[in-house]
Amino acid sequence: MQSDSNTRVALVTGASRGIGAEVAQHLARPDTHVIVNYRKNSAGADAVVDAIRSAGGQASTVAADISEEAATAAMIDGVAERFGRLDALVLNASGGLEAGIDPNHAMRINHDAQQRLARLTLPLMPAGANLVFATSHQAHFYPHKAVPKGYATVAASKRAGETALYAMRSQFERRGVHFTVVSGDMIDGKAVLTLLDGGDSATTVTRRRSAHRGVAEFATAIAHAATAPSTAGIVYVGGPNHLARMSA
Ligand SMILES: NC(=O)c1ccc[n+]([C@@H]2O[C@H](COP(=O)([O-])OP(=O)(O)OC[C@H]3O[C@@H](n4cnc5c(N)ncnc54)[C@H](OP(=O)(O)O)[C@@H]3O)[C@@H](O)[C@H]2O)c1
Repeated sequence: MQSDSNTRVALVTGASRGIGAEVAQHLARPDTHVIVNYRKNSAGADAVVDAIRSAGGQASTVAADISEEAATAAMIDGVAERFGRLDALVLNASGGLEAGIDPNHAMRINHDAQQRLARLTLPLMPAGANLVFATSHQAHFYPHKAVPKGYATVAASKRAGETALYAMRSQFERRGVHFTVVSGDMIDGKAVLTLLDGGDSATTVTRRRSAHRGVAEFATAIAHAATAPSTAGIVYVGGPNHLARMSA
């Protein structure tokens, strides 16, 4: 069964928590069906769907490890079968920083999986559809700027993913698909939040507020790119000072 043709369909990868969860909720509209992809966290994905429905939108979850070719193909086949179209794809899910992870995983998820998703979804995208890649300034400018300790593998793989998507730009343009990269600075306190979970000091509260603001600002920019009638090419989030520091 396919949905009616007036319903916009948006797929957000890695939307069970963090920035992806926020983007999915920003996309909630009565005329939009948001597909919330996740890897393991079904409770988080269900909560995002509930929030979208409570806001008057339509949503469903789909479990798929995007670093797995077969799981990704099954997810996209499911979208084709149910909706027959995809109006927005937000490439948000990322990885490579997990403790004890196979060192090749970063390239598999941040490069191979992004390229594969773009290739598999393009035939479902009508003219005017939006494809958005979320990245960090530290990855976008890699290797021209120093990166935080432990982030080089992720930065290199995300940069390779971004470059691979740019290489597909003529295919996007031929179909009338708007491709936008949204790059954000590291969000102050986001990683620290996990470490400090359960703490109640004033510093923790300040960091939580800062992280909430950072996530909201980045997610708003991504959601805007996913619904815009044209592409801004690249959108930098984090304020001019951050960008000047990165690109100086
Ligand atoms: N955090 C920052 O400071 C920051 C700054 C700039 C840019 N960014 C970019 O923003 C994006 C989101 O970052 P985030 O910090 O919000 O991430 P996060 O909190 O670590 O969330 C990761 C999300 O991705 C999903 N995921 C992880 N591996 C997956 C896989 N193999 N297949 C499918 N889903 C997978 C997770 O699903 P489960 O919950 O099921 O595991 C979760 O929903 C990334 O592209 C990142 O590079 C982040």
